[in-house]
Amino acid sequence: MLPLWYRNAVVYAVDPAMFRDSDGDGWGDLRGLTNRLEHLRGLGATCVWLLPFYPSPFKDGGYDITDHLSVDPRLGTIPDVVALLEQAEEAGIRVLFDLVVQHTSDKHPWFQAARSDPESPYRDYYLWSDEPVEDGLEPVFPTVEDGVWTWDEEAGQYYRHMFYAHEPDLNLANPQVRAEIRRIMAFWLRLGVSGFRVDAVPYMVSAAEEVEEYKSGTDLLRELREFVALRHPEAVLIGEVDVPAEEYDDYFLEGDGLTMLLNFWLNNHMFLALARGEAAPVHEALGRLPVPPRRSQFANWLRNHDELDLERLSAAEREEVMAVFAPDEDMRAYGRGIRRRVAPMLGGDHRRIAAAHALLLSLPGTPVLQYGDEIGMGDDLGRRERLSVRIPMQWTADEHGGFSSAPAEHLVATPVADGPFGYREINVYDQQRRPGSLLAKIGDMVRTRLGLTEIGFGTHRVLDTGSPSVVSLIHEDERDGRVVTLVNLSGDDVEVRLRDEELDDLVDVLTDREYPPEEDDGPVLRLAGHGYRWLRPRSHVFK
Ligand code: BGC
Repeated sequence: MLPLWYRNAVVYAVDPAMFRDSDGDGWGDLRGLTNRLEHLRGLGATCVWLLPFYPSPFKDGGYDITDHLSVDPRLGTIPDVVALLEQAEEAGIRVLFDLVVQHTSDKHPWFQAARSDPESPYRDYYLWSDEPVEDGLEPVFPTVEDGVWTWDEEAGQYYRHMFYAHEPDLNLANPQVRAEIRRIMAFWLRLGVSGFRVDAVPYMVSAAEEVEEYKSGTDLLRELREFVALRHPEAVLIGEVDVPAEEYDDYFLEGDGLTMLLNFWLNNHMFLALARGEAAPVHEALGRLPVPPRRSQFANWLRNHDELDLERLSAAEREEVMAVFAPDEDMRAYGRGIRRRVAPMLGGDHRRIAAAHALLLSLPGTPVLQYGDEIGMGDDLGRRERLSVRIPMQWTADEHGGFSSAPAEHLVATPVADGPFGYREINVYDQQRRPGSLLAKIGDMVRTRLGLTEIGFGTHRVLDTGSPSVVSLIHEDERDGRVVTLVNLSGDDVEVRLRDEELDDLVDVLTDREYPPEEDDGPVLRLAGHGYRWLRPRSHVFK
């Protein structure tokens, strides 16, 4: 097993409740995902990240967990997890689970025991106060929750919750709680996962500031990484770390902390660049990022299962992106983000969506694709908050988009049937058979990217091309491999001049269309509106 596999991986994020219902109860399930691993493999994904499938009241899409060591009966059983892991291994796909241990559901037996008995050993699993606390902490969902401390009648105390009031925060300073986390990780690692996406990391770290033996709260990450690495050297921790870019190093800890950081900084600047049709926000954002230590990496994505949280932009930049991509109030969430998927934001234009993915896949770091974005699925603004983007996968033009055979009233969510993003227009089956489909294009990109190991393993530089709309990067590795990636964010055709003399004999390895050889004698390359070209030195391709 190569411990650095994640540097050249393509991750596919799946909400198992929304992917495919195998037993007709209306909920997507683990068997449904297992049966559809061929779709991931066809796309070229090398890793799947499963959103929570644990028992849950599903008041927060499954992030409100009542038992971290089993499976919600609507989604499957532990043997189904084993079958999924075996099939994924057979298909060469690694599996990551979501580790949500910053809080639990208020229905978790720990919280039930804690609130009903002050003497219970579980009382100290959570954070309590006799008085309302003035700690200046703001709730993560400010338009939904008034504060982070809520009175619990049964406990006779206030408890803290950074997220929803039904998600009490765990007291990570309690060694018993940290022991529980180790039990959870050991359990799933034994079953065969390749690591975890760790939820809400900065809040975990700040709670761990209270641990006496720690020099800093980030020692928690050191502890978790060591625990994981001792069991599986190749296992990774991908952290949800939405903090200023200058703080990323505190989470990498010179290679002893998180293996990968979800790069919110770059994500936000990608959308600023897309909104403006200009490369500068991406070029400049890259320049502000620390170089990850050798045993670490960034993870990049366009859209995930949450709102597009634009907090890494200035207020003016945020407004700019909102004005372009979320003109209606209803498209926005929590006063800071956009609750739409990428396809509707880009007007359903498959050329633009493909270019956005070409941008994602040409950035240094590990790309994470959101299920359904590979076919350009839309969203359902009729669903509340972020649920708008968590909708059933569209497999075919049949009833319920081939997601489930259950009667409509049993469905976990109503599939999008009508309009330009409905399953009659947008589905996997149709696009699989069409050579120029979005699915075909993104699949080509993913598979090509896997061969361009310089992007995952090497270093990168921004190339000065004199074309303001083109994100232009060169990726180089120590074996002298080179890849140039050009992505045009504007709708206009452009010419790109590569000033670096060494770059005058490049050949295309991936393009949005055919580009006949130039007649010009200098290194000038044409790019169509929303076009992209990835190139390598001729000597590398024809050696
Ligand atoms: C998840 C959200 C969830 C929140 C609380 C975030 O990291 O991505 O979907 O609501 O944590 O668990």
